[in-house]
Amino acid sequence: QEQNRELTERLLQLKKERNAIILAHYYQRDEIQAVADFRGDSFLLAQKAAETDADVIVFCGVHFMGESAKILAPNKTVIIPDERAGCPMADMVNVDGLRKLKAQHPNAKVVTYINSSAEIKAETDICCTSANAVKVVNSVESDEVIWVPDKNLGHYVQQNTDKKMIIWEGYCNTHDMLTVKDVEEMKAKYPNAEFVVHPECRPEVVALGDFVGSTTAILKYCRESTAKEFIVGTEDGTGYQLRLDSPDKTFHFASKYLVCPNMKVNNLKKLVKCLETMQPQIYVPPHVADQARQSLERMLLVK
Ligand code: 13P
Ligand code: SF4
Repeated sequence: QEQNRELTERLLQLKKERNAIILAHYYQRDEIQAVADFRGDSFLLAQKAAETDADVIVFCGVHFMGESAKILAPNKTVIIPDERAGCPMADMVNVDGLRKLKAQHPNAKVVTYINSSAEIKAETDICCTSANAVKVVNSVESDEVIWVPDKNLGHYVQQNTDKKMIIWEGYCNTHDMLTVKDVEEMKAKYPNAEFVVHPECRPEVVALGDFVGSTTAILKYCRESTAKEFIVGTEDGTGYQLRLDSPDKTFHFASKYLVCPNMKVNNLKKLVKCLETMQPQIYVPPHVADQARQSLERMLLVK
């Protein structure tokens, strides 16, 4: 506690000196979410990065999120607490594979989940997040869509659109681990609870949801629902905002494995250190960033 207080004081001082803004994803450790200027899902944080007039963006999340911030704000310095915080799902699609698919389906537009590398975004017509995936897919002109990299979110979108989707076989190691058995056991234990679930989970798990949505949508649903108890089918870091929003409600995470180890690589100590040393910084080659920026900016314009 005492150490965290000292670290927080140092952080506030450095933040002022560097004119920095701290963005934290809802899956970050509580100690990071507590000191962030903005907590958010991938969509909100991309928006904040694009809008900020700070000189430095400290991105507490995983690597692709820092990259997206740098692409949207190329003149800012973007630093991250630990460059080992990657996203295995983002690494499941490669440029060669995507190019092959594009050659096979020349009339399809490429819609890419923001959980992807800058190189993949550079090969993309439009990006999306879980918060706007259906809207983005419906917004493209073509009847056919190449979708990378999350097969589970892709399956969910396919159920909510008339477009024909060609779906890549990637997945989130954390959300994909949740099973029907886990959820059924929790439902038996907490029969009055509502089950809220992120569409990165397997289709058969998503099918059990009383509510299906992105992190922000789940937060909103739980705030507004008359239910008092919830079984939560997404990453456990969301508990911080859920409990802050609704201190009178109870949240049970659907499995003890709903923890993204990559998100948890960051901690308060590393956050302070990166602002002190201004390392590690995110670098995206300008020709890649210029291509990738178009796909992100198109996403930000979808209403
Ligand atoms: P959202 O922030 O869009 O809900 O994404 C979930 C996720 O897995 C981020 O890594
Ligand atoms: Fe990637 Fe899943 Fe972790 Fe999000 S929760 S960063 S998709 S591994």
